[in-house]
Amino acid sequence: LRVAVLASGRGSNLAALLAASRAPDAGYRIVGVFSDQADAGALALAREADIEAAAVTRRPDEPRAAHDARLFARVAEVQPNLIVCAGYMRIISAEALSQLAIPMINLHPSLLPLHPGLDTHARALAAGDAQHGCSVHVVTADLDAGPLLAQSRIAIEADDTPERLAARVLACEHRLLPATVRAIARGTLDLSGPVPHHGGVPL
Ligand code: GRF
Repeated sequence: LRVAVLASGRGSNLAALLAASRAPDAGYRIVGVFSDQADAGALALAREADIEAAAVTRRPDEPRAAHDARLFARVAEVQPNLIVCAGYMRIISAEALSQLAIPMINLHPSLLPLHPGLDTHARALAAGDAQHGCSVHVVTADLDAGPLLAQSRIAIEADDTPERLAARVLACEHRLLPATVRAIARGTLDLSGPVPHHGGVPL
């Protein structure tokens, strides 16, 4: 499976995907990394690994859909079978998604449908949630609301701070995302049909 990754930041999830792709039975390889931020650590990681890497930065006053179109035109050049948003911090326009013929999944640091959007760890604490975690879902025009593919749960501890909680969730993400991409590569998770809504981690 040819995987393209979109990332806006440091790229620790890209690093986890990359490491897991080196297993002989991984079933996928990363063929390109793209960012809306020219200085994204994820791009540097890709370049160090000799993987096609490009920043497609939004021009001043550029409409969202126009920026998305430029980004996905660039992504299409590496002919991916799957696009993975791993810390891609923009909302992708409905227009771009309707034009996209490639399945796209997103990693989100909460137990969706709880806490879509930003600052999920502080919100889980403020809500007094007993559990928290991360989710991988299919990207649709509705923010963090597409069909769920996999989830990983952790207990929230009494003395948790947003930072400590975020660190524990990140460790979960580094396992969940590669496991989900491997499951898609193997066909254990089938994105083509109506995606099964089962919050379980892929087998
Ligand atoms: C992850 O926690 C992801 O869930 C969120 O942004 C973070 C990206 O971290 N959307 P990294 O760039 O992969 O280290």
